[in-house]
Amino acid sequence: MDQHRKEDVLILGIETSCDETAASVVKNGREVLSNVIYTQIALHMQYGGVVPEIASRKHIEKINQVIEEAMRQAKVTLADLSAIAVTCGPGLVGALLVGVSEAKAISFASGLPLVGVHHISGHISANYIEHRELEPPFVCLVASGGHSHLVAVKDYGVYETIGRTRDDAAGEAFDKVARAIGLGYPGGPKIDRISREGNPHAIAFPRAKVADNAYDFSFSGLKSAVLNYLNSCRMKGESFCQADVAASFQKAVIDVLTEHSMHAVAEFGYDKFAMAGGVAANSALRASLEKECLVRGIRFFCPSPVYCTDNAAMIGTAGYYEYIRGVRSGYDLNAVPGLKL
Ligand code: KG4
Ligand code: ZN
Repeated sequence: MDQHRKEDVLILGIETSCDETAASVVKNGREVLSNVIYTQIALHMQYGGVVPEIASRKHIEKINQVIEEAMRQAKVTLADLSAIAVTCGPGLVGALLVGVSEAKAISFASGLPLVGVHHISGHISANYIEHRELEPPFVCLVASGGHSHLVAVKDYGVYETIGRTRDDAAGEAFDKVARAIGLGYPGGPKIDRISREGNPHAIAFPRAKVADNAYDFSFSGLKSAVLNYLNSCRMKGESFCQADVAASFQKAVIDVLTEHSMHAVAEFGYDKFAMAGGVAANSALRASLEKECLVRGIRFFCPSPVYCTDNAAMIGTAGYYEYIRGVRSGYDLNAVPGLKL
């Protein structure tokens, strides 16, 4: 390898927290040399959602090939690397264990340092990849299949969670509503697409407020309202318009996410706002937040869709900032399904 300097920091990132087996080589925190993702979506589609046991088995089958491919595309060998970064939580425990065990084995065999990375820290750090100018502090909305968090990013790897969901995550609501209206799994991208043909004002779905924290979210009431609407249509023998239900539901989610995000930005007085997680790939949500940021003179950041959904480049980037701060994990690193940010 001759294209890199000795002082370059090359991190191999590994991500297996849910249904994507992913590996990536990231140079100096922000340059992605490879980003290989084996997605299991097709496998889980027939069950209408991720089956944890099947996800773990597929990870163990694919992980070595995915890592080999990431190393090959990046044109590096283990000797070129500075460290191995791996998602150690939160996520599905069996799925996480595959990545953690793999990373430990490589670390043990090669002597490379090991860095455990929080999955949400990874999602947030995905913003650094394509926005070289982005530096903390900023407010970040993290909306994925498992999480809806509003986070004050005070420094690299230094987070204050200011709001979270009390029940369903935003992506979970997308997936459940999609299933209910017959769109199937994974619901987010399908609702995103069909909503473009629907009227977002067709049905008045609720925008839930959480009494004791203005930044917290609740999406289960909205999900129930959609299910009630569908049931009442069925009982009356009426058909419903898939696109209108999707668009009205999506608008309700976007309104709440946008309002809380802008409230947080104002409260913290930061001039930057970022989005992260699978739901950040939603075109209408991106448009809504970008517009509101523009009105307020706030700089808006959002990763490309491929860096919004689960990937290992974001883990390599988050791992880089941990690594240069001197963070190292021991061989006792474990998978922690409910790891706090
Ligand atoms: O970040 P991610 O890949 O995995 C988790 O960490 O959970 O997020 C997956 C979630 C799923 O719920 C999926 O439906 C949602 O992100 N999603 C979307 C879109 N693309 C993915 N939701 C809304 N619109 C999209 N375009
Ligand atoms: Zn994720």
